Amino acid sequence: MSAAIEVVADPAAAAAERIAAVVADGGHVALTGGSTPRGAYRRLAAMDLDWTGVDLWLGDDRCVPAADERSNEGMVRAELVDRIPADRAPRACHPTFGELGPDGAADAFEAELRRAFGTPAAPPALDLILLGIGPDAHTASLFPGKPALDVLDRWVVGVPEAGMEPYVPRVTLTLPVLNAAREVLFLVSGAGKADAVARAFGAGSRPGHDAPSSLVRPADGRLTVLLDEGAAARLDAAG
Ligand code: 6PG
Repeated sequence: MSAAIEVVADPAAAAAERIAAVVADGGHVALTGGSTPRGAYRRLAAMDLDWTGVDLWLGDDRCVPAADERSNEGMVRAELVDRIPADRAPRACHPTFGELGPDGAADAFEAELRRAFGTPAAPPALDLILLGIGPDAHTASLFPGKPALDVLDRWVVGVPEAGMEPYVPRVTLTLPVLNAAREVLFLVSGAGKADAVARAFGAGSRPGHDAPSSLVRPADGRLTVLLDEGAAARLDAAG
């Protein structure tokens, strides 16, 4: 599945609109951490959406308590979940168990997925996974050259050494789960990401462990990359 590249003035607004459409249909939605999606989450919180048909997940987290400012779970709660009226709240907000450390969190997070999806041999097909991309082309907590990229027999894996700040252990969905999704949406903004975007999605790019985002290609799902002009600056004209 090739990526649909969309260069827009306000990627956060576009992402919020896309996520809102999936929320309306209901299903399993995994959000991302980092700073870029905050604007999208604040927009979603301001919409009068009914989240009661949604299981909310995170694609990855830092292994810190939810109250820690580095926690993705804590950020998503503050920017989105805690702003949704109780009668329209997600039917489940699944923790990432980051406080258990990378291995404990991976075991607990995977057990939570198996409880929600049963224990099929095939990875679960989430309805939408929102992802960001780092300047090193990492996504979720799948960093260039790190062992987690080779884990294909687990749904969740611990990452004892992050490849970028914050340098705390992580827990992350694995590539098989990302690529089983019905839809993957990358949300990227800023010229600082232009090189990573070109290495991951440019016409001349080749999937490889040096650019983990290039390995996210949902087998049967839709892949959309939302960019602003800065992030798209190094995409080939054909990209
Ligand atoms: C995280 C995210 C990570 C993030 C990228 C981009 O835990 O930080 O999962 O993959 O999406 O690092 O982060 P920014 O949006 O802050 O640039």
